[in-house]
Amino acid sequence: MSDAVLTERRGAIAVLTINRPKTLNALDVPTLGALDAAFAAVEADPSVRVIVFTGAGDKSFVAGGDIADMNKRQGLAHYVEFAEVIHRVFRRIETCDKPTIAAVNGWALGGGTELMLSIDVRFLADTARVGLPEIKLGLFPGAGGTQRILRQVPLCRAKELMFAGEHIDAATAVSIGLANRVVPKDKLMAETLAYAESVAEKSPLILKLMKRVLLAGAEMPLAAALQHEQAMASLVFDTKDAHEGCTAFVEKRKASFTGT
Ligand code: HXC
Repeated sequence: MSDAVLTERRGAIAVLTINRPKTLNALDVPTLGALDAAFAAVEADPSVRVIVFTGAGDKSFVAGGDIADMNKRQGLAHYVEFAEVIHRVFRRIETCDKPTIAAVNGWALGGGTELMLSIDVRFLADTARVGLPEIKLGLFPGAGGTQRILRQVPLCRAKELMFAGEHIDAATAVSIGLANRVVPKDKLMAETLAYAESVAEKSPLILKLMKRVLLAGAEMPLAAALQHEQAMASLVFDTKDAHEGCTAFVEKRKASFTGT
């Protein structure tokens, strides 16, 4: 079995580490296949409540698509193979019912930032640098990056990043809404896991329904999205977990959710 992506369990949290340090964890087709397989396994495992992504080594999260590999893919059919795989894997991550968190431990460039854009919550080491430098290679972001970033940060900021291809530091990434928080590098995994644990103890059923409402609602007209939310919230009120959460509050105790 490939070691291009490592899976580690920390209680209810699965940590997936992209492990190609010689290329700063660049993504080629075999690595994307390993990521897909590792992700599918933890997605299907009911004991996993939260999925964390990070990069091997202390320099890089993901330095993007593997440039040498992409350069060998002359001809549309070869390029399409790469593009289809990366799109499928990132979309699978984006539409997952379980919360996902990126612990960005260094470079997140090109496909690395595009992977981050597919992950729910992003914590950046203070040494991390992110960006969409594809333009410098005569390319533009093609792993969902153009479309996801314009839905997540102001359009002028997205264009500023994509036009010049410059890297930005972690604090700037947070200030434009591309990431959630900056963490001292030596505390990145501890702080990410502490947050992940606070999510993992919530109801997986309610988190699933909330994630679906957010994902679908972003693509719906407001009136329809509000109706969708109302219908799903009514469903939520009917769950055992809603009863448990409200009862625990009234009884001044910690709730114990079962996902039912
Ligand atoms: C392949 C890569 C790579 C990449 C780094 N390496 N990034 N190999 N693909 N994306 C390799 C280098 O060739 C080098 O190999 C080794 O990793 C270490 O990299 P250095 O450049 O020596 O490190 P450093 O000087 O610290 O610079 C780090 C860096 C730089 C700033 C991250 O490596 C860099 O700019 N990388 C490219 C980033 C990029 O442009 N990403 C976007 C790719 S396009 P050797 O063998 O020399 O030691 C993309 C599109 C995807 O992502 C979607 C398309 C559909």
